Amino acid sequence: MSKTHIQIFDTTLRDGEQVPGCKLNTTQKLIIAKKLDILGVDVIEAGFPVSSPGDFESVKEISRIVKNATVCGLTRAVENDIKVAAEALASAKKPRIHTGIGTSDSHIKYKFNSTREEVLKRAFDAVRYAKSFVEDVEFYAEDAGRTDNEYLARVCEAAIKAGATVLNIPDTTGYCLPSEYGAKIKYLKENVKGIEKAILSCHCHNDLGLATANSIEGIINGARQIECTINGIGERAGNTSLEEVVMILKQHPYLDLDTNINTSMLFGMSQLVSESMGVYVQPNKAIVGSNAFAHSSGIHQDGMIKNKTTYEIIDPKDVGVTDSAIVLTARSGRAALAYRAKNVGYDLTKLQLDDVYVNFLNFADTKKEINDNDIHQIIETSNVYQQIISA
Ligand code: KIV
Ligand code: ZN
Repeated sequence: MSKTHIQIFDTTLRDGEQVPGCKLNTTQKLIIAKKLDILGVDVIEAGFPVSSPGDFESVKEISRIVKNATVCGLTRAVENDIKVAAEALASAKKPRIHTGIGTSDSHIKYKFNSTREEVLKRAFDAVRYAKSFVEDVEFYAEDAGRTDNEYLARVCEAAIKAGATVLNIPDTTGYCLPSEYGAKIKYLKENVKGIEKAILSCHCHNDLGLATANSIEGIINGARQIECTINGIGERAGNTSLEEVVMILKQHPYLDLDTNINTSMLFGMSQLVSESMGVYVQPNKAIVGSNAFAHSSGIHQDGMIKNKTTYEIIDPKDVGVTDSAIVLTARSGRAALAYRAKNVGYDLTKLQLDDVYVNFLNFADTKKEINDNDIHQIIETSNVYQQIISA
């Protein structure tokens, strides 16, 4: 039986790019959009066209060049935003307008000085107006994570009546626990009239480090789209990380959920976004960090050298990383030293290794990490060097 498809909606160029310091020019955005299309994302959120002439231009150009993915433009529930987004998306093969409004009591009171009934009407009107330009309209209920479920269900119903094809349920402030977010999606699946006409989408922020967990809980409870960014970049603590959710589904096949992503491109994609934005990836970042496949303690290295499955749940090649690394530090054991020495041409006997290891520990205490040149130096200055080279 074939697996259920989860749509990957990439918002690197919208929610990711709106972060200070991450600004990209149109050429950089086009390069990233082209690569996202080849990566296999279902939707590229290309920008917020009304926000600036530059963003309008980028969405327009991206719409022209993307071959497979749906191209999406963000708007507020404001007629002019929607009209401008429709213009920017005019040459997209598959255009989508993403419109919406804040639905939590906090947004209704402090942002809009309005009422639940007025906001509900604005949601309906915005979707209906967007529908006059494109068939595919996604509605977002901003701050849905903190919105009362009964009211949220009524807003979703109104959006569906107006023609929404996708209902985005953002945990805008990253507040929800995975169980709460999952229960919210389940509640909407069970209580929104007409829900079979639309798909539910997870858009989770990472303020409490729960964005990935919440998105996964969302799809387990019936959502069929995840909104995410490369390297998890985005507002404040970021968005759900694309590489994490994709690899979670791949490594847990019994969930029977899959994506179209060519995972062997993930590392290259991460590097491209990091270099274009000038935002480095933390070394311990899951999947794409420089330490994600590096093993440094003696106990782990010993296991890895015997069999990689002892400490690795992902084959690094599956995400485009050439190989795992056995990193030599003062915490490394003899097995790792012998392994790395062999890689640079020394096949040490047990007695030779004992001697070289003493030299290695003295050296390693003075340095963070031992490289191949250091290994040569350590062996050349050991008591057994002559014996090693004359063997
Ligand atoms: O986090 C959020 O609520 C958003 C919406 C604009 C979709 O980014
Ligand atoms: Zn967001």
